[in-house]
Amino acid sequence: MNPNERIRELTERLNRYAYEYHTLDAPTISDAEYDRLYRELEALEAAHPQLKLPDSPTLRVGGAPLDGFESVRHEVPMLSLSNAFSPQDADGVFNHAEMLAFDERVRGGLDGRQPEYVIEPKFDGLAVSLLYGNGVLLRAATRGDGAVGEDVTLNVKTIAGVPLRLHGAEIPDMIEVRGEVLMLKADFAALNQRQEAAGQKLFANPRNAAAGSLRQLDSRITAQRKLHFFAYGIARQEGGLTVQEHIQELAYLRELGFSLPHGHFGCFKNIGEVLGFYEQMLQKRPDLPYEIDGMVVKVNRLAEQRELGFISRAPRWAVAHKFPAEEALTVVEAIDVQVGRTGAVTPVARLQPVFVGGVTVTNATLHNEGEAQRKDVRVGDTVAVRRAGDVIPEVVRVVFERRPVRPAEAVSDGIQGDMFAALAERPSESEQAAEPVYPRYRLPEHCPICGSRIEREEGEAVARCSGGMLCRAQRAQGLIHFASRKAMDIEGLGQRQIELLVAQDLVTRFADLYRLDIPALQQMKEQADQAGKADETADGAFSDGLKAAKKQPPVKWAQNILAGIEASKQPELARFLFALGIRHVGERTAKSLAQAFGTLDRVRRAPEPLLACLPDIGSVVAQSVAGFFAQSAQQEMIDGLLAAGVVPQEQPVTLPLARYAEPAKWLSRLPDFKISEKRAAALWELAGQSIAGLLDDNALAAEWQQWRSLPHNRRLLLDIEAFLREMPSENAALPENTGISAAAGKTFVLTGTLPTLKRDEAQAMIEAAGGRVSGSVSKKTDYVVAGEAAGSKLEKAQALGVAVLDEAQLKILLAEAV
Ligand code: IVH
Repeated sequence: MNPNERIRELTERLNRYAYEYHTLDAPTISDAEYDRLYRELEALEAAHPQLKLPDSPTLRVGGAPLDGFESVRHEVPMLSLSNAFSPQDADGVFNHAEMLAFDERVRGGLDGRQPEYVIEPKFDGLAVSLLYGNGVLLRAATRGDGAVGEDVTLNVKTIAGVPLRLHGAEIPDMIEVRGEVLMLKADFAALNQRQEAAGQKLFANPRNAAAGSLRQLDSRITAQRKLHFFAYGIARQEGGLTVQEHIQELAYLRELGFSLPHGHFGCFKNIGEVLGFYEQMLQKRPDLPYEIDGMVVKVNRLAEQRELGFISRAPRWAVAHKFPAEEALTVVEAIDVQVGRTGAVTPVARLQPVFVGGVTVTNATLHNEGEAQRKDVRVGDTVAVRRAGDVIPEVVRVVFERRPVRPAEAVSDGIQGDMFAALAERPSESEQAAEPVYPRYRLPEHCPICGSRIEREEGEAVARCSGGMLCRAQRAQGLIHFASRKAMDIEGLGQRQIELLVAQDLVTRFADLYRLDIPALQQMKEQADQAGKADETADGAFSDGLKAAKKQPPVKWAQNILAGIEASKQPELARFLFALGIRHVGERTAKSLAQAFGTLDRVRRAPEPLLACLPDIGSVVAQSVAGFFAQSAQQEMIDGLLAAGVVPQEQPVTLPLARYAEPAKWLSRLPDFKISEKRAAALWELAGQSIAGLLDDNALAAEWQQWRSLPHNRRLLLDIEAFLREMPSENAALPENTGISAAAGKTFVLTGTLPTLKRDEAQAMIEAAGGRVSGSVSKKTDYVVAGEAAGSKLEKAQALGVAVLDEAQLKILLAEAV
């Protein structure tokens, strides 16, 4: 094949693969194969630059920087939309009057006929116009002032989801596509992390990041920023498919290779249905992978759009139905600290109440002292607060122009003594005027709850109260976690009740919960009622649980709580382990521990080097787990729970230690004896593959002999030996293999770094079992296999409710037969 033909073929194929990958979410070749073909094309183009095609995928990496952007006059002006709002009352009920008025106007304009509406996300990005001639992307332009924009073709070509050549059977001679360029939330977070690590400025939000990236004169920078494009309309077209409706227009755009917001738009018969969809989307908003600031409602039939026409700069046939702002300005009245379950001390800004994201916000987290100082939040500051969905409201930034400052005289009053030295240090005019009234924020030195010292470990962002269980705040938080839904799931026992029980010293330890009785609960309630009378006017800080309690007949509510406590006595092992609140042990780790050991008794005794071999559990977690169980106070606490009748359920071992904790592995994880797995394997061989040999063989390396001469190290080896002997042997609990893997026919997505398998190894294993590996997550994905530093794909899987596996669980699934 001559170079010309090969370049053509490669360009066509690579564009198709990229489309299958990015837009259809159904890749047909492996990444490695794609890379190979891509490199071949690159080499051919380098040898024959004149043969490079305008839709070559190699253009996606960007090109030489420009001096500036050319202007582009929009043949069809890029208009704006009029807005409609739906304010919510205190109970969350919407007032849709403005949208009903829009519907009325539209029906009026259509002589009373009822139009269909299409409703789609109002993307919070930048409007872009894409011009294609004979299917090839010729020019991309920003909106600018609507009449004249900037030519950003080179930059837009780097956006993976923008087809360089249109797909499908009915390619128009000319088409101008309109849509929005944006940055996904996860890509934004990752970008800011990189910016921070590189000491560069952070972007305020995904929109700014997208704008900054698209308006780069150096398109190679744009290429490194992950941008996304959603198409939402056709401005003009010659040839190709003719459609009558906006919804058909969208379908056609999809056919031509553009991304649409899958599942987040629809066509409805009347305004009532449209409003229902709006309300659903408002609920989903926090979980969407991109930011939207509302929904756009458009009359579906194009003939009716034409009939309605435009008023000044906006169509009469469409409206932007905005969502409530997620950000609002307010004033910091004070900065307090909150003490969490692990003693973590979090600065919290007390705010003048402000309505944001559909609720009134009075507190916002500042995360930690470093964050508070980096954002430089001070008392008296006007700040932007942000609330998205269920997440804790946070202070986004300070409006420095509004920081209260001392009058200028007050500053010069301070200048005494050596005038020249003082003058030399004097800030410039403008800085001098900005002498703030309040100092830079610092954490207090002592815990406001228990008075213990607040300490911060080297290199840690979080400071902790050193009071441990002496600190009522930590006790309460620990108990709240213990009782919570994903832990012991004690129904009826809410946060507020626990706080009261702790405040009144009715409960100090977990086991005390199981000794509560009706008189104790009544005492709790009486005191709370009294305190409640005092603060009902203030904030009425009563949980729903207590409100409900007040309405129920006497004692019944207390019986309910006791029943909830009683019902929690036989937890799954994983829940029990999670409930203990061991540092670094989240739900997933707790599950791994349960799967690896099967019984609480074994988890309590598991030697640290064996723990460190388990998937999901690195040395830090292993140390935390072993360190927890090494404390006699914790062992007593657990004994207390067992004595109170709590029986964590045993379960079969599905992560057999024998498979994960091979001798070379645990040997390389011994305390104070750091060797590679390879050297550990050699040591094991030399010791005759036995712990007895490790303990007594005198032919072993001198360092080893020295290490094992210490009594606690010998004891550790003996413990490991005894422990391994007692553990069920490999695969004992795994189902028998009938030949057909449970993975057959399933779609997997791999993300993050797996502990032992390389990505292509994992892919090969999945494929060998009859499964399929795809590049991105969708509703069709059966499993996401997540490793270290898994990012947006994991988030998306969680948002869509797709099952998430770790490497160990993947291996089990692959071994499982149906
Ligand atoms: S239609 C004449 N659809 O909103 C119709 N616009 O206020 C105008 N936008 O700058 C555009 N999502 O960038 C349309 N689904 C959507 C949109 C959308 C976001 C932006 C667009 C424009 C602004 C108009």
